[in-house]
Amino acid sequence: MKVKIHTLFQYLLETTDAEPEAIVGFSLSGSPVLGDYLDALDPKLSLDWNNRDFRGLPELRSHVLSQAGLHGRCRTEDVLITAGAAEANYLAIMQLLQPGDEIVIETPGWPQAEVLAKAIGAKIVKVTRQESDGWHLPLDRLRDAVSERTRMIFVTNPNNPTGDLLSAAQLDELVDIASGVGAWLLVDEVYAGLEWDGPRAPSVAGLYEKGITTGSVSKALGLQGLRTGWMICRDAALIMDAVILRENSSEIMNIMGEVIAEIALRPARYQPAMKKARKEGAANLAEMNAWVDSQPGLTWVPPRAGLIGLARLPAGIDSDSFARLLLQEPYRTFLLPGSAYDQPDHIRLGVGGGAEVNLHKGLDRVGEALKNWGAS
Ligand SMILES: Cc1ncc(COP(=O)(O)O)c(C=O)c1O
Repeated sequence: MKVKIHTLFQYLLETTDAEPEAIVGFSLSGSPVLGDYLDALDPKLSLDWNNRDFRGLPELRSHVLSQAGLHGRCRTEDVLITAGAAEANYLAIMQLLQPGDEIVIETPGWPQAEVLAKAIGAKIVKVTRQESDGWHLPLDRLRDAVSERTRMIFVTNPNNPTGDLLSAAQLDELVDIASGVGAWLLVDEVYAGLEWDGPRAPSVAGLYEKGITTGSVSKALGLQGLRTGWMICRDAALIMDAVILRENSSEIMNIMGEVIAEIALRPARYQPAMKKARKEGAANLAEMNAWVDSQPGLTWVPPRAGLIGLARLPAGIDSDSFARLLLQEPYRTFLLPGSAYDQPDHIRLGVGGGAEVNLHKGLDRVGEALKNWGAS
């Protein structure tokens, strides 16, 4: 098994030292600083691991259930604290999929499941979200795509990269599809809490015994650098299998990530932090919507949730060439090309970064580059 690079990561690697002056692609809320938590940190905290539980600090796991609305449906034993949602996805996929198993994934979608499934030698079945259909997940086609061989269905809700959102009724249907063939249903909820036109969807771990919820403090709270996330599942054997795999990679969580995440998720801090993130995200989204409307030939389906969406470029512009041109003088602006998601006619626009992001500057430059495209 060798894990191969994906175009999304390749682009990030190739452009890390580009030193852009503007970014039109922030995918997380404005990030807090360490000083925001110092009043609640104990200077005598041991920098050994938490010494209490291999699954993570119990009070942190309880907050995780609270923010997901899962108290009463799941127990703290059903929560495993991980190095971000990325590690939670990794542990679940690696322990559940065998060579030859089928995994059903969405496209466009977060590439991690496809990358890992390829390395495992699993068969990948893709269900396409169509732009003409508002990027909605076509549940009828998903139902056709599963079979007795389907071991797992992997989706993101809210969806990365389109910002589409499944409702409670649609999730029930998804559970019906998965349970009909006995498949695991992994729903990556890393963007949950940032819904713009509907309520937060229920977490799948509360709906289905083989439902796996993954999430983290990275996106809505902007705490990506803590590397703290979670997996929630009522299947005790899966949680144990994840603990065993992790024991053979990073072994345990980092104590600073756990402790700060526990503070950040305390209701007295979490509620105001989410209110701020929602207010700033909504303001940036309104600015982005107005800007897209003002650009000849540029269109998008505004994200219904989360901080990113795909915009269709005017005809004839290739996203990869456009994104690379944007990084050069005089624009010096970063955004992610849609080619990273197999959508070469699109660019990914982001409305994260909070109030300080200065979206205006980047958007002006993207507008200039679009205007000058024919001449370049
Ligand atoms: C859908 C999705 N899942 C997982 C991740 C990884 O997030 P984390 O920082 O929680 O590992 C990301 C980050 O971009 C994401 O968009």
